[in-house]
Amino acid sequence: MQIFTFVLMSVLVFFAGNPARTIAADAPVHGTFALFEVEPTWTTLSSDEKTKGVQEATALVESFKDRVTFDSYWTYGLTTDSHFLIRLQSSEAKINQELLTQLAGTGLGRHLDLEFTISGITKGLNYAPDFPDLLAQLKAAKYEGDPSTYVIMIPTRKSAEWWNLSKEERVALIREHTVPTIAYLKTVKRKLFHATGLADADFITIFETNNLEDFNNLVLALRMVKEDKYNIRLGSPTVLGTLKSWNEVGALLAK
Ligand code: HEM
Repeated sequence: MQIFTFVLMSVLVFFAGNPARTIAADAPVHGTFALFEVEPTWTTLSSDEKTKGVQEATALVESFKDRVTFDSYWTYGLTTDSHFLIRLQSSEAKINQELLTQLAGTGLGRHLDLEFTISGITKGLNYAPDFPDLLAQLKAAKYEGDPSTYVIMIPTRKSAEWWNLSKEERVALIREHTVPTIAYLKTVKRKLFHATGLADADFITIFETNNLEDFNNLVLALRMVKEDKYNIRLGSPTVLGTLKSWNEVGALLAK
């Protein structure tokens, strides 16, 4: 009996101390996006100081790898007032915050300005199960493009009028939203985070693609459906960048 109690307690302690492992398949993922600009003071550092600063930041990211899924994107030249965007995904927004707070104390972080940050959570589908014909097409669609090179992050907000439509009306409008999008799944990957009450947006949409012309046409098609009349914010900011590993971002910064 004592052995059983010991094993049970060990299992409970193990899971309590490893939050990433406790995420059930349908538990929300907490996503935090942080857009950084490197301060001019960084350029006054010696090459060794820059390398050390980047190494400290890299060691920190590495130390969170069991708890945080970390993606980085180089935005300099494509998005105003920024050098890179990071996306943190974990079981709790506070874990994302912990990483960002510790990052600020590294040799690199001391020269970074956090220009924009926003958090949201993933949820199950609200509408698509009500149009199973299109849902089947969504599930069947396969990405066929070359590996993605671009990221686009677009926060969106809907009007009060939208939220006060009946569920049936919203289903009909989202169905209309979905129709033109299916063809684009060949070249565009997407992910949606819900942010109502957590940010000044209702959704954070993020896309990866190798084809910006397709992406531009996709968004144009979505601006031409009735659902778009309920969008009172699209972007602000829209963040455009290129996919880079953290080591690649570090190398660009250390130059
Ligand atoms: C290949 C491209 C796209 C596909 C296949 C797609 C498909 C869908 C589907 C099926 C839903 C309903 C999800 C549900 O059932 O809860 C949805 C929701 C949504 N989509 Fe798209 N979409 C695409 C592109 C876009 C773009 C480019 C934007 C905006 C820039 C966008 C913004 C949204 C938003 C904000 C929602 C949430 C709406 C709500 O829950 O009220 N989508 N999309």
